[in-house]
Amino acid sequence: MNDRDSNLDALVIGAGFSGLYQLLCLRDRLGLSVKVLEAAPDLGGTWYWNRYPGARCDSESHSYCYFFSKELLEEWKWSERYPEPPEILRYLNHVADKFDLRRDICFNTRVTAAHYDGAANRWDVVTESGERYLVRYLVTAVGCLSAANIPQIPGLESFAGRLYHTGQWPPEGVDFRGKRVGQIGTGSTGIQAAPVLAESAAHLTVFQRTAQYSVPARNAPLREEFLQYVRERHDEIREVVRSTPNGHPFRIARRKVFDVSEAERQAIYEAAWEKGGLQFRASFHDVLLDKAANDTAAQFIKRKIREIVKDPKTAQALADIDHPYAAKRPPIDTNYFETFNRDNVTLVDLRAEPIERITPAGIKTRASEYALDIIVFATGFDAMTGPLLKIDIRGRDGIALREAWAAGPSTYLGLQVPGFPNLFTVTGPGSPSVLCNMPVAIEQHVEWITDCIAHMREHGIDCCEAAAEAAEKWGEHVNTAAHATLLPLATHSWYLGANIPGKPRVFMPYAGGMARYRAICDDVAAKGYEGFVMGRAKRNATVNDFSAGATIASPGV
Ligand SMILES: Cc1cc2nc3c(=O)[nH]c(=O)nc-3n(C[C@H](O)[C@H](O)[C@H](O)COP(=O)(O)OP(=O)(O)OC[C@H]3O[C@@H](n4cnc5c(N)ncnc54)[C@H](O)[C@@H]3O)c2cc1C
Ligand SMILES: NC(=O)c1ccc[n+]([C@@H]2O[C@H](COP(=O)([O-])OP(=O)(O)OC[C@H]3O[C@@H](n4cnc5c(N)ncnc54)[C@H](OP(=O)(O)O)[C@@H]3O)[C@@H](O)[C@H]2O)c1
Repeated sequence: MNDRDSNLDALVIGAGFSGLYQLLCLRDRLGLSVKVLEAAPDLGGTWYWNRYPGARCDSESHSYCYFFSKELLEEWKWSERYPEPPEILRYLNHVADKFDLRRDICFNTRVTAAHYDGAANRWDVVTESGERYLVRYLVTAVGCLSAANIPQIPGLESFAGRLYHTGQWPPEGVDFRGKRVGQIGTGSTGIQAAPVLAESAAHLTVFQRTAQYSVPARNAPLREEFLQYVRERHDEIREVVRSTPNGHPFRIARRKVFDVSEAERQAIYEAAWEKGGLQFRASFHDVLLDKAANDTAAQFIKRKIREIVKDPKTAQALADIDHPYAAKRPPIDTNYFETFNRDNVTLVDLRAEPIERITPAGIKTRASEYALDIIVFATGFDAMTGPLLKIDIRGRDGIALREAWAAGPSTYLGLQVPGFPNLFTVTGPGSPSVLCNMPVAIEQHVEWITDCIAHMREHGIDCCEAAAEAAEKWGEHVNTAAHATLLPLATHSWYLGANIPGKPRVFMPYAGGMARYRAICDDVAAKGYEGFVMGRAKRNATVNDFSAGATIASPGV
């Protein structure tokens, strides 16, 4: 099909957690004609692409799922505390089968452009193979972490071995046996991958630019008692994930770090370390709010690293962490630090010896050349804005999103961009998204967008657009919320766009907490979508005041 298909009401881009639920809501709840366009050959989003060794979610499985259907909650049984991609893909396929979603998803279909046609009040959407769609509503469900970042290191093309990015992992897998493997990157991905790579590779060399904190995941099969406990408490768990700042199935402690004695504090951290997982961060209320409080958690983890890693020089390089704990997205691991005690693993500290170039034979740093057969880039993503800006999106009067966001993303509630009518962005910049257990943030956005479109249709409104003033004020609030926490102190974090050369430094996710954000969005809707311009005529909308209320730190996913 090369002619414009004008028979659809809506298009959704992406078939991960977001796109699947958005399709279900628009098609089955509102009765719209909808298609999902997905670049990958199959559904799953993150879990389709990130099948590197060691990959798992680190939200606990009983919360890393949809909550909208009680039946779905009751019939699905997770096998582990943190499942691997194949199990998450089985879950998403089960959802797709249960709600008959596949028939409306076009795979192997990458959207390259979406231009708003003001006269027709339609989005003209073009795919890589030249298919065109003309639709009223365009919903991007492209993910926050779907645009792989492969740093342009000189000599990259000259490498004689094989190169892989963890976010574009071949579904058939990679055989590392007998190979000299170099891994660049020690974020959540690198920390998951290294221990598993080390088990099969002849030798693993880990190139670390910034040392990272990590806490044991303590992954394990789920026992029948736990599954029974979850089965009996779906409503309660749903209530917890919806009412906590970061959407996880546990509450952040009310106590503050200096409310307790040193001995008690160490015992609390020790117990959290033994329990494992992201709950470590929730041990005290002020870990992400007060630097002195944070230092106590940081020192605890650094001490653990020095205790685990036997070689003092390696231990020092791993524990020499330059930012507050959890100011970068905190990883959890299975034997990450222990891996550096293996004879076949070497750590290269890139602060001491930066990479100069990639050669045909391996990686050359200032101090040495490391001979490699395979290089694994665990170098992360052009997060949040990357997947949107890869599409040539143009709004009212032909304005390009790339131009509109030249100084950094500007949105109202992370849901809409001024000048881009009827374009909705699931987990867009300016929303809690990656600072929340994401399925919780995704459900909230998808349901809000669905309700907004339903409202438009009920009231004969054919156009909805964020007001510029509302977006400006929201942007200020997003910035204030971030600066009420320690998050911006990690100046090299991807939350700020600092991992991508030339990307504007703007704190992108909303750090005011998911529960508070939900309340703001509900209030906006209750007030007739205040801050959004509805209808065809241009008019000023009233703008909400977000300044009231205390900011609650929302630690990352
Ligand atoms: C390795 C890894 C582990 C993670 N673990 C967790 C976790 O434990 N807990 C948590 O809450 N979050 C986690 N996340 C975040 C994760 O991305 C979200 O939880 C969730 O899967 C996002 O779903 P989504 O549908 O919004 O986006 P995605 O799953 O990223 O799906 C977006 C889809 O859009 C498609 N797409 C993008 N651009 C286009 C285009 N132009 N045309 C067509 N299709 C396009 C992509 O191919 C992709 O399939 C993790 C992320 C990574 C990378
Ligand atoms: N559920 C999970 O457990 C899980 C697993 C994986 C990912 N995720 C999600 O995905 C996000 C991204 O994680 P990620 O680990 O893929 O990416 P990331 O956190 O951005 O980490 C990328 C790593 O690559 C390094 N790097 C980047 N460019 C480099 C270069 N040119 N030279 C040397 N090193 C370079 C970075 O160093 P610097 O720190 O110095 O920039 C960092 O160590 C996570 O934060 C999380 O939200 C979750």
